[in-house]
Amino acid sequence: MANEKILIVDDEEDVCHIIACMLATQGFETATADGPERALESLAAFRPALVLTDIKMPGTDGLELARQIKEVSPDTSIITITGYASIDSAIQSLRAGVDDYIKKPIELGQLVTAVRSALGKRATTLRNKKYVEELHCQLARAKQTPASSFLGAVKGLFRAEGQVTRGAVLDTVESLAIAMGAKDAVTKDHSRQVGAYASRMAEFMSISPDIVGQFRLAGLLHDVGKIAIPQYILDKVEAERTPEERETFRQHPMISLRILQPVREFEPILDAVLHHHERFDGKGYPNGLSGASIPVGARVIAVADSFAKTRSEDSSDDIPSEASALECLIAERGKMLDPEMVDVFLQVLLSIKEETGGEIHTSNVGKIAIQENFSSFIEPNGPRPTY
Ligand SMILES: [Fe+2]
Repeated sequence: MANEKILIVDDEEDVCHIIACMLATQGFETATADGPERALESLAAFRPALVLTDIKMPGTDGLELARQIKEVSPDTSIITITGYASIDSAIQSLRAGVDDYIKKPIELGQLVTAVRSALGKRATTLRNKKYVEELHCQLARAKQTPASSFLGAVKGLFRAEGQVTRGAVLDTVESLAIAMGAKDAVTKDHSRQVGAYASRMAEFMSISPDIVGQFRLAGLLHDVGKIAIPQYILDKVEAERTPEERETFRQHPMISLRILQPVREFEPILDAVLHHHERFDGKGYPNGLSGASIPVGARVIAVADSFAKTRSEDSSDDIPSEASALECLIAERGKMLDPEMVDVFLQVLLSIKEETGGEIHTSNVGKIAIQENFSSFIEPNGPRPTY
């Protein structure tokens, strides 16, 4: 921030000079203009991040100058300098697009605080703008589908939780998730299944309703970063990928994080999303975390993800694939997957079976036939882990 350029506009040369000296002590690069005309000329040449302008000047005043600057350079921050601040001057400043105003006589502390605050706000605005632009670019590159149940699921969840805020950004993320679903045909339904299983696991563990919602959301969005992975890599199974392709594929949790991170509402699920490919034995990615150091949400998603994925890979078989999917979970107990979370998952499947009379059926997951003998994998009346 210290190297940012600041243009100082005042018809009194001495005032310009004093302010320039004050800002120079803080490391800012400055230029001065003795009036609005010169200021507009230097706008293009000097390209300041911030314009600091006196309000009272002969001819065009500082507020009119602010309006003209905002028209040609809306990202430029503006602070006005006023002899006497009043409610009226504050309202006029706001209407002119001014970010802040400071009173004369100017004190160094007050000046630096106002300048840093305005530059900080500008940096945030530019970051958000760039983020939305990047998402739109990614969206344009991705193959899009018409309305998707994936979109409905995410929107419904937010509506239910009364969290529909920052609409534009949220809509973009959701659209991105749809595009991701279109890109990787398995992912859309897969993500919904993972979200549904993860939330059932949270319910089983008697975790708070907030966390249940977060686990569902993490399941829905954990693979959103696949949008940036080339299609030919997604189309291969892990064993078919070259080391380079494997490395590229392994970037997707980090990309998911980058996509979701700027939206405040997604903050509680970021850990689960980033670490959903960590392994209990520490051989996973991106950080090689092991055991309890892996966030609980990520350990839950890993189990739900593994089961849903194995089932979808076997879905072309005529034989119901629950048994083989469960065998995979058991085989990975304590290796890839947290053994306690595997037990929780099995208990959840059992309870779903009891609810549906021999079939797993939830509104989100859909109808899944299950073999009668799968309960033999579960220790009868085993203790529930506590969290
Ligand atoms: Fe993943």
